[in-house]
Amino acid sequence: MSKTIHFGSILHGVGGTTDGWRHPEIDETASTNFDFYKTRAQLAEKGLFDFVFIADGLYISEKSIPHFLNRFEPITLLSSLAAVTENIGLVGTFSSTYTDPFTLARQLMSLDHLSQGRAGWNLVTSPQAGVAKNYNNRALPPHDERYKIAQEHLDVVRGLWRSWEAEAFPRNKATGEYFDPTKLHRLNYEGEYYQVAGPLNIGRSPQGEPLIFQAGSSDNGRAFAAGNAEAIFTHSSSLEETKAFYDDVKKRAQAAGKNPDHVKIYPGINPLVADSLEDAEAKYQEFASLIPIENAVRYLARYFDDYDFSGYDLDAPFPELGDIGKNAFRSTTDYIKQRAKEQKQTLRQVALEQAVPRPNFIGTATDVADEIQRWFEAEAIDGFIIAGDVPHSFERFVNEVIPILQERGIYRKAYEGQTLRENIGVPIVQ
Ligand SMILES: Cc1cc2nc3c(=O)[nH]c(=O)nc-3n(C[C@H](O)[C@H](O)[C@H](O)COP(=O)(O)O)c2cc1C
Repeated sequence: MSKTIHFGSILHGVGGTTDGWRHPEIDETASTNFDFYKTRAQLAEKGLFDFVFIADGLYISEKSIPHFLNRFEPITLLSSLAAVTENIGLVGTFSSTYTDPFTLARQLMSLDHLSQGRAGWNLVTSPQAGVAKNYNNRALPPHDERYKIAQEHLDVVRGLWRSWEAEAFPRNKATGEYFDPTKLHRLNYEGEYYQVAGPLNIGRSPQGEPLIFQAGSSDNGRAFAAGNAEAIFTHSSSLEETKAFYDDVKKRAQAAGKNPDHVKIYPGINPLVADSLEDAEAKYQEFASLIPIENAVRYLARYFDDYDFSGYDLDAPFPELGDIGKNAFRSTTDYIKQRAKEQKQTLRQVALEQAVPRPNFIGTATDVADEIQRWFEAEAIDGFIIAGDVPHSFERFVNEVIPILQERGIYRKAYEGQTLRENIGVPIVQ
């Protein structure tokens, strides 16, 4: 097999759980501590990861998890990380519903220049109704419309990025020709949601333009991703379900006239590496025991736009929720409902499984490498986005699992190029 597996690393401060920050070995200041991000990004770069990934949201309440309450804005954080890394890609999450395309196009292209071609945009449509309260009461549009807006938004952003052709700035001191006017293009976009003339006030980057990631796995999300994205961040469930997702998106990409190999699929996983499987299990149990059931239910409720589960019996079958959740994290809530039904889960089981899932990549470094290889050889993924909520699991992944995968010939031994596009394996935009 000539293909190799790829990794990204989600940098998530005190972590993606409600109470992980209370673990004695977690730095409780991590979410706003630049040293945490710098150390993690440099470690991921040592492990030859394609990119670091910053998730984000635009609305909090007292019910939000600790990391969401007090964290860095992604463009600022990634710009700082650009200065302390050399090769690793820098992917940030930005909403197509609640950002202005001209401003975002400019920010991302600036990041792409600052990093010599390592920027990426994880396009999300925003799943929480509360965001409107922070954006002049512009109500969260229905799920379908959010993807229509996303299409126009992305068309504008990409159009602006193409304002200048490559080599548009001869900067000839002798002749006085600073730019070549034949290489400048005005967008003059007039759509249903956006009217933007352009041109953008920054030219092409070493990779042409930032890479587009997409996180949204509903039917609309998949269709959007297949037609527009170069990489997808999705859930990880079982190997079989992930393989079905992979095949579906690749087929859709082909039908949309794209090379399916240029839409990379990265499920998020939380591998746990220890000296033995028993040791890893014990570490997972210790970590899971930090999370009280009330907090796990609160965590679950966020996917359903903070739905109030307090009236339900924790040990009764997971309640019938009808359409609740459909306008929020639709693909996630559909999955939770379906799985609860199939597995006959109670509310308590569902909440704990969401708030602190038992990793399906767990054990010694060899166990974890074996499982990764199995998924890779089943052609269920192009890579994984690695979180590291349990202390030391990320360091052990880089230091112990990566060398095994290299030894087996399924992981790179050096970066292929300078830009994110070269390293992820999608074309540079000319
Ligand atoms: C794996 C995954 C990660 C996501 N990460 C974010 C995020 O960081 N910020 C955000 O606002 N939304 C995030 N979303 C939600 C998307 O914004 C999207 O609006 C929502 O899930 C509805 O889309 P879907 O039903 O197509 O999945 C994520 C969704 C998925 C599936």
